[in-house]
Amino acid sequence: MSKKTFSHNFRKLNISQRKDIASEYFNFTEEEKKIFSEEHDLSDLSDVLIESSIGTFYVPLGLASGFVIDGKEYVIPMAIEESSVIAAASHGAMLVKAGGGFNTWASDPIMTAQIFLIDVSQDAKNKILSAEKQIRETCEKLVPNLLLRGGGFRGLEVEAIEMKNTLCVSIHLDVRDAMGANIANTVAEALTPSLKALSNGKVLMAILTNASEHRKAKASFEIPNKFFRKGSFSGEDVCQRIVIANDLAKKYPKRAVTHNKGIMNGISALTLATGNDTRAIEAAAHFYAQNKGAYQSLTSYEYKDGNLIGSLELPLPVGTVGGSISIWPWAQLSLKMLGNPDAQDLGRIAVCLGLAQNLAALLALVTEGIQSGHMKLHAAKTAYSAGARGGEIRMLASKLWSQKTLDPTIAKKLLKEMKEYGG
Ligand code: MEV
Repeated sequence: MSKKTFSHNFRKLNISQRKDIASEYFNFTEEEKKIFSEEHDLSDLSDVLIESSIGTFYVPLGLASGFVIDGKEYVIPMAIEESSVIAAASHGAMLVKAGGGFNTWASDPIMTAQIFLIDVSQDAKNKILSAEKQIRETCEKLVPNLLLRGGGFRGLEVEAIEMKNTLCVSIHLDVRDAMGANIANTVAEALTPSLKALSNGKVLMAILTNASEHRKAKASFEIPNKFFRKGSFSGEDVCQRIVIANDLAKKYPKRAVTHNKGIMNGISALTLATGNDTRAIEAAAHFYAQNKGAYQSLTSYEYKDGNLIGSLELPLPVGTVGGSISIWPWAQLSLKMLGNPDAQDLGRIAVCLGLAQNLAALLALVTEGIQSGHMKLHAAKTAYSAGARGGEIRMLASKLWSQKTLDPTIAKKLLKEMKEYGG
């Protein structure tokens, strides 16, 4: 990563200044700078990525800063339409940095292909398990490039489903830097003839599982309580309230789902910015959240020896090559901003972002609430809706803010006065 310091004032600059700073910080080439420009035409690309394309749909892209992950500084691109999320992520990252940064772990990038067999014979499970060598060889012939990159077959499991004579055959594959859905589905479909023969049954279907439970990443931090003092709350109070809020989300699914949605605000925004499959990431996270018997929060917190200790572990099936990632210019630019990580490192970055997001949300929720932080952004949206553009937006928003109103009629009146009298 760059040795330069990322601007502390980034949020306060105007968009063209931010583009200049980002271009300099990440050493964007002239070609890459064009991706920021309005004229960039992605029609052909969108037409090859999806069917019936009529163009592209824009989502705001922002940069969350202040992340120290395993001793390395990161600025994280996030594509998201929701206000406050990027500010919250940066705030959470800053608190974690004060405690020394995030520590992470990531498993090997294992995805699982599944073949569902029905009307199988009694000895089908044993027959399939004894054919592991032959199954491995079939898999490896299908993915020679993956073998060259160090990936390939990593194991076979056969489960009886609670339905008469029905089996699920799971093939675990190390997919290296790919997201892996395509590889897993290719392998699953290619294995159907041999599994049909071995089971003496019928193939119902063959597809990867989005549970992705063997492709996990984990992040943790430890922050002294003095960094949490807020208003009338002592640092210790705030830390204990955060722990209670998390315990509550472990016990009460209707709170857990909102808690986890906040985590995914960050993770999905990074997933989208890097051209990955947001639905796969969400599916895996929510599967994992219910995996201990009941749906619960994905994070863990404890307060020990004056420190708040937080951690998050979840499946993260993200890739850095293949699919739309390798050809979508914004995805390439986002990966460049992250220092071109491999898939495991992208998973580590994503899990830190989710944890930072959750820390900032809980901190706000158990102290002043989240609405006061949102008000300034709502004022900017009201100013935009009233017709303000460019520098007028901030000017009108600060007038609305100082008058403590979001009334659209007042906003229009103030804008008219600003235009007539110049501010
Ligand atoms: C809003 O998008 C996310 C939060 O609701 C998360 C949470 O409640 O923990 C603030």
